[in-house]
Amino acid sequence: PAPGWSIDADVVVVGSGVAGLTAALRCAAAGLATVVVTKARLDDGSTRWAQGGIAAALGDGDTPAQHRDDTLVAGAGLCARTAVDALVTEGPGAVQRLIATGARFDLDAGGGIALTREGGHHRRRIAHAGGDATGAEISRALVGAVRGAGLRTIENALVLDLLTDDTGRTAGVTLHVMGEGQHDGVGAVRAPAVVLATGGMGQVFSATTNPAVSTGDGVALALRAGAEVSDLEFVQFHPTVLFLGTESEGQQPLVSEAVRGEGAHLVDAAGVRFMVGTHELAELAPRDVVAKAIMRRMREQGADHMYLDARHFGAEMWEHRFPTILAACRSHGIDPVTEPVPVAPAAHYASGGVVTDLSGRTTVPGLWACGEVACTGVHGANRLASNSLLEGLVFAERIAADITGVAADITGITAGAAGAVRGAGAAAATALPPIDPAARPAIQRIMSLGAGVLRSDASLREAAAALEEVDRAAAGAAGAKPAVPGVDSWETANLLCVARVLTAAALAREETRGCHWREDHPERDDTAWRRHLVVRLAPDRS
Ligand code: SIN
Repeated sequence: PAPGWSIDADVVVVGSGVAGLTAALRCAAAGLATVVVTKARLDDGSTRWAQGGIAAALGDGDTPAQHRDDTLVAGAGLCARTAVDALVTEGPGAVQRLIATGARFDLDAGGGIALTREGGHHRRRIAHAGGDATGAEISRALVGAVRGAGLRTIENALVLDLLTDDTGRTAGVTLHVMGEGQHDGVGAVRAPAVVLATGGMGQVFSATTNPAVSTGDGVALALRAGAEVSDLEFVQFHPTVLFLGTESEGQQPLVSEAVRGEGAHLVDAAGVRFMVGTHELAELAPRDVVAKAIMRRMREQGADHMYLDARHFGAEMWEHRFPTILAACRSHGIDPVTEPVPVAPAAHYASGGVVTDLSGRTTVPGLWACGEVACTGVHGANRLASNSLLEGLVFAERIAADITGVAADITGITAGAAGAVRGAGAAAATALPPIDPAARPAIQRIMSLGAGVLRSDASLREAAAALEEVDRAAAGAAGAKPAVPGVDSWETANLLCVARVLTAAALAREETRGCHWREDHPERDDTAWRRHLVVRLAPDRS
C-alpha cells in the first residue's frame, strides 16, 4: 500500500520502552521535533514486564570495575570492552537521572536504594521497585514524563520500512496505523534521524517471557534496510519461568532471578539442590549455566520441569517482596508459600541485534538503534541479569547526545531532501510483503523444537528446511491467495525473517558459548569462534 499521509519531524523514535522513551525525552529536551511511534499502547512493550530490576554499581564498596568484570564473565568472551565500560561507568548516573524523571525505587532501612542480587553478580547491585514490579514503575515514570512534556506520540503504529533518500541516507519510516484518527492506514513519518527501539523477538519461540508485541520488527526492518545485524544466535533462555505445561504457548509468567537472589533453592522432584556443586555461585551462577543445569537435570530424570523452593521466605516476605510473582503463581493454583514452584526455561532476551557503535549509530546513516533491538556489544554471548534496562537508559542518553550534536546537519537534510524521499511518494509501496498469520504457530514450533535451548546440526538443519518451506508456501504456491496486509501478517513476515537469520547463525556457530548451546559441539572454541557472526542483506531499493 502507498502511504496515504505523512508528517515531518527531526527525530522519529520507534518503540516506547525504557530505551525509546528515554531517547525521545532527551531529544525533545534539546529542542528537536520528536515523534514517538509505537506498535500498541505506550506501555505495552517488554519494559513493563521487567521484574528483578536494574543493575548499577550503587552500593557501598561496589564499583563500576566490579560490575564490568561480572558483565564480561557472563558475556563469555564476546563483549565489547569499551561498550561495557560505558555501561558500567555511566550506569549509576543514568539511574539517578531516571529517579529525577520520576521513577521511585524501593528503599532500604537507611533510606538508600535497596539492592538485591541476581545470577552472575558477585554483589548486591540490582535496584528494584514495587518489590518485583521494577519495569512497571519505570514505564509509569517515563510515560508520565512523555505525556507531561507534551511529546507527539502515535500509538497502534507498526513500523513497516525505513525510508531513504537518493544517497541511501535515512529519511523516516513508513507505518501502518489503526484507529488513530487522521493517521489511520499506511503513512509515513519523514525525519532525518530514526531511533529504532522496538525491543526483542521472543515471540519467534512458542514459549517466552516476552509480550505479544515482541516480534522482531526492528531487526527485520534493519535487515531489509541493509544494516548490519550481529549475534542473533545468542538467545537467552530465562531459567525460571512458571511451568504451565508443555502445551502452554505465548507469553509465560516470569519468576525473577531476584527470588534466587533472596535465597530460593532450585530443586528436582526429590527436593535435591542440583546447583550446589555445579557452580561456585550455585543458584546465582550466570543465567546460561543455570538454564543448562536445569535442562540437563530434566533430561536425566525425564522431567519437563524442575522446582524453585522458597517456602522458607514465609508469607510476609512473599507478599512484600514478590507480590507480582505471588499473584501470578496463585492465579495458576500454585502457592509458593506452601509449595515449591514448578519452573522451566523459556526464551527471554535477544543478546544480539542491530550493530551499533558507542553512540548507538547503526551502519545505515541516520539510523540509530537502542535497547534489546540493538547489539551495542555489552552483552556478548549472554547478557548479565538486569543489564538490559540499564543498557536502554545509558545508550538512549548517548544516542540523544549524538543526535543533538548533529542536529544542525540533520535539520538541513530535512529541508533539502523533502522532495526526494524514496518510498514516500504516491507510487511507492512498502517493501514488506505480508505473510498469512496462520503460519505463525508453525514458525514458533519449528524454532522451539530446532533452535531452542538445546541445538544441534541436525535440529538446526531441520528447522532451516521447515522455515524455507513456510517461506515457499507464503511466496504463493500455485493458486494460494496473497496474505491480507495488516499488523498480524506483517508481524508474521518479520518473525519468519528473523527466525531464518537466527537459525542460520546458530547453525554456523559450531561451538557452545554463552546462551548458544550446541549438543554436537559442547565445548567453547576460542580458536575458531571468538568472533561475531555479522549478517547484512542487500537493501531493497525497489
Ligand atoms: C529477572 O527478573 O529475572 C529478569 C532480569 C533480567 O532479565 O535481566
